[in-house]
Amino acid sequence: MNDTFLKACWGEQVPYTPVWIMRQAGRYLRQYQKIRKKVDFLTLCKTPELAAEVTIQPIDALGVDAAILFSDILVPVEAMGMSLEFHEKKGPVFKNPVRDRSSVDKLLVPRPEESLSFVLEAIKILRRELSGRVPLIGFSGAPFTMVTYMVEGGTSKNFLHTKKMVFQTPDLYASLMDKVTSTVIEYLKAQIVAGAQAVQLFDTWAGIFSPGDYKTYVLPYVKKVIKALKDWQGIEKKERVPIIYFVGECSGLLEEIKTCGADVIGIDWRINLDDAVKRLGSNYSVQGNLDPCALFLPKEKIDERVKEILSRAVSARGHIFNLGHGVLPETQVENVVAMVEMVHRLSRK
Ligand code: CP3
Repeated sequence: MNDTFLKACWGEQVPYTPVWIMRQAGRYLRQYQKIRKKVDFLTLCKTPELAAEVTIQPIDALGVDAAILFSDILVPVEAMGMSLEFHEKKGPVFKNPVRDRSSVDKLLVPRPEESLSFVLEAIKILRRELSGRVPLIGFSGAPFTMVTYMVEGGTSKNFLHTKKMVFQTPDLYASLMDKVTSTVIEYLKAQIVAGAQAVQLFDTWAGIFSPGDYKTYVLPYVKKVIKALKDWQGIEKKERVPIIYFVGECSGLLEEIKTCGADVIGIDWRINLDDAVKRLGSNYSVQGNLDPCALFLPKEKIDERVKEILSRAVSARGHIFNLGHGVLPETQVENVVAMVEMVHRLSRK
């Protein structure tokens, strides 16, 4: 098996820097668009054979060192009882956002084996079909990022409803976060049982807080998820799968993030990796952090950026190359292929 990704997560020696790309299965790939013409996004997520097929597309097309399960962070929210739609322009929409006690009380903590069995089935198919080519990453939204969608009803610019709930009705917010946290824990455990070989928590919107508020309102729930997974599987690396924690706009929060207990921290592009490593210390590997828009540069310039990131990462315990956020639909596939090749070539020891 190509286990460079798992080794880098644990900070072990690797022959070259492994690379995968957030949102690597998606609209910038022609193969993906072809399938999406026939089925809508949620149907794709809920059809295990198709979800497995699009998960493997970027492994074939790009030569990346890990596969990430094709799904969405909002799929388990639907299983909690909210009606989820994806609109072509607006993205995800919850028509009845959660803003009061009765809607929080109505939410379920789903049993993944029942209402999310299609995800677990996709993981089982993938482990069979990948047959050790590359490891499979499972994922969940981190509690806070899931809650922003549940409270706002969709994507937001200033997260007013969420912040109002946090500051005006902290008890309501805490009960909502408790339910989502339990959902995340059960969901990730089920993914690991089904065969996920690493898990990533996406906290895309946690960077909207000051360090103090992040520490009070976001971090305790992330720690709870990580601790629950460790207590359940075992602390030692031989006993469990690595846990990656990604925070969008993390640079103001690294001293807090340092206490989260994950194995790898995903870093966005707004900070240099060597600075991030200095602030995180030697207990974490890092993942990142090319600006997704850098893939619109001419190839020679992408080459320079890749080199810079690799050289800034030498101080890290381990490094997994990635973008600092998801790849954009407008990206040219040949530039992504070139980037993956550059990472492998320039990092080879
Ligand atoms: O990384 C992968 O390739 C695995 C699949 C994956 C998707 N979404 C597929 C997807 C993963 C890991 C996600 C995570 C996700 N989803 C996040 C966290 C990471 C991030 O990018 O910030 C968030 C915030 C979401 C919520 C979400 N899903 C939004 C805001 C949107 C609309 C914007 C957009 O990119 O379309 C989605 C839809 C979505 N999720 C698509 C894909 C491939 C596009 C759907 C389509 O085919 O039309």
